Amino acid sequence: TEEENLGNVKRQLAKLFEGSLRAVVPDEQDVEPMIAASTGKFVGDYQCNNAMRIFSKIKGRDPQLRNPASVGQAIVEHLPPSDIIESCSVAGAGFVNVVLSKTWMAKNIQSMLIGGIENWAPQLAIKRAVVDFSSPNIAKEMHVGHLRSTIIGDTLSRMLEFSNVEVLRRNHVGDWGTQFGMLIEFLFENFPNSEDVSETAVGDLQTFYKASKQRFDNDAAFKERAQRAVVLLQGGQPEYRKAWAQICEISRKEFDRVYQRLGVQLEEKGESFYNPYIPAVLKELSDQGLIEESQGARVIFLEGFNIPLIVVKSDGGYNYASTDLAALWYRLNEEKAEWIIYVTDVGQQQHFDMFFKAARRAGWLPADANLYPRVSHVGFGLVLGEDGKRFRTRNTEVVRLVDLLDEAKSRSKAALIERGKAEEWTEEELEKTAEAVGYGAVKYADLKNNRLTNYTFDFDQMLNDKGNTAVYLLYAHARICSIIRKSGKDIVELKKTGVIVLDHAGERDLALHLLQFSEIVEEACTNLLPNVLCEYLYNLSEIFTKKFYSNCQVVGSPEETSRLLLCEATAVVMRKCFHLLGIVPVYKI
Ligand code: ARG
Repeated sequence: TEEENLGNVKRQLAKLFEGSLRAVVPDEQDVEPMIAASTGKFVGDYQCNNAMRIFSKIKGRDPQLRNPASVGQAIVEHLPPSDIIESCSVAGAGFVNVVLSKTWMAKNIQSMLIGGIENWAPQLAIKRAVVDFSSPNIAKEMHVGHLRSTIIGDTLSRMLEFSNVEVLRRNHVGDWGTQFGMLIEFLFENFPNSEDVSETAVGDLQTFYKASKQRFDNDAAFKERAQRAVVLLQGGQPEYRKAWAQICEISRKEFDRVYQRLGVQLEEKGESFYNPYIPAVLKELSDQGLIEESQGARVIFLEGFNIPLIVVKSDGGYNYASTDLAALWYRLNEEKAEWIIYVTDVGQQQHFDMFFKAARRAGWLPADANLYPRVSHVGFGLVLGEDGKRFRTRNTEVVRLVDLLDEAKSRSKAALIERGKAEEWTEEELEKTAEAVGYGAVKYADLKNNRLTNYTFDFDQMLNDKGNTAVYLLYAHARICSIIRKSGKDIVELKKTGVIVLDHAGERDLALHLLQFSEIVEEACTNLLPNVLCEYLYNLSEIFTKKFYSNCQVVGSPEETSRLLLCEATAVVMRKCFHLLGIVPVYKI
């Protein structure tokens, strides 16, 4: 129930104000409370911004409410009593400023410490979602774009899961294109005996792909065989199915190594999985009169687009769009997903807009795109190299993800060794920390930007221990842990017996930011913007250091217990942020 979510201050205030707004303007049904965290312009922690709008609606009707400020005043007067609010005041054009009660704030944090951060999990209106992410193509390259998709998709899945949504994490692998004809023929040519096929024997699949493509382009007889192979494969010819499965397996192993390093869970349901569903799905659309014949192809014409959505190519084959329509049908009807989220580069925006529109016309989705069942395309920009062009490495055309992760790890390991950690720590600790910092840095550098913007991949910048980087944040967390450790106090015991007091402004500022965790995760999740959570985490670390820690002595002060509890609450929230961002926390530096 909503009562249980003590963390979402905004929502709790909205409930209080809803009652008051109803009392002020009984004739206006559903006035939705406009509650926002204060930006610092006015005194107070939150604001209710309804007065202006209400005034312009009822102008003149009520002589008591002669201006926005008096509407604001009336809103305050009708507020039901509550232990959340300390005081309210009206400013400017009727803005109601709310000062939260310190006692309530302290109690709320304390019950989170006892009950766990799950107390502050957001509440969403849905039970099950599909997140379609990563989705590389077999034998083609798994490029940095797929890295972005993997990182962003994983974070969104984690945020939804934290919000108690069941997430079906789907890897929509490109395993069914016409490229398989040439790959299979090339495999037959090089491995006449199928027993000999193995990852080590075949070697790098991208190189294999290139070699087979060359053969395809330069040898007419090979090309013909390749084209026939596609037909045989799709017809289910066992020898061809087997070769196809062997190629997929080699790719899968390579992808899995990346996922394992990144700590990403995914279930592969590639394009081939949906292939058997396509005919029936297209028939349904055809029966509705949505599909037309155009230049030998079968297409759906959609208002607002200057090209039609091709669902059957002129050679009779299915394509990306027919597969996506079948997959959407499956996810809605078989998997009963209420929200289906697709994470790809923005270049695919039009494809998604078009097939979403087709699905809407077919009546699969409500006309209002914000209602459930709902589909969202989470687009992202390019990864750029330091030269400002599309990111590439010196010798290979595309960046191999494994190499990137290796380098991030070895660089962060070198930095740790330079700080003398090789003498202080075991080899295992060194390895684990280097991985946490290195991979965390790659992820955070991606997630902290608004996903739609392009960003520059720069090791030096992302591994800097100052500024808005994972390294800085991980170290900040480790430092808080060491404050608690060095106090020599048993924090588990303190949680049960200690009391938080927020008398110092630094303590109160920190507490307020901690309490905003829940609404921030909810915002990041519903707007599909991981950067919102990164910004929160960075600010938390800054507020802890600059407002709290530099002004409030912890160990040895009369407020030691309370302050240690605030340290612990900060560490708990930071760890949850790391977890949601797919970053492994470190405890020692
Ligand atoms: N395989 C595609 C690519 O590499 C991404 C697939 C995204 N998911 C989807 N359902 N279309 O671009």
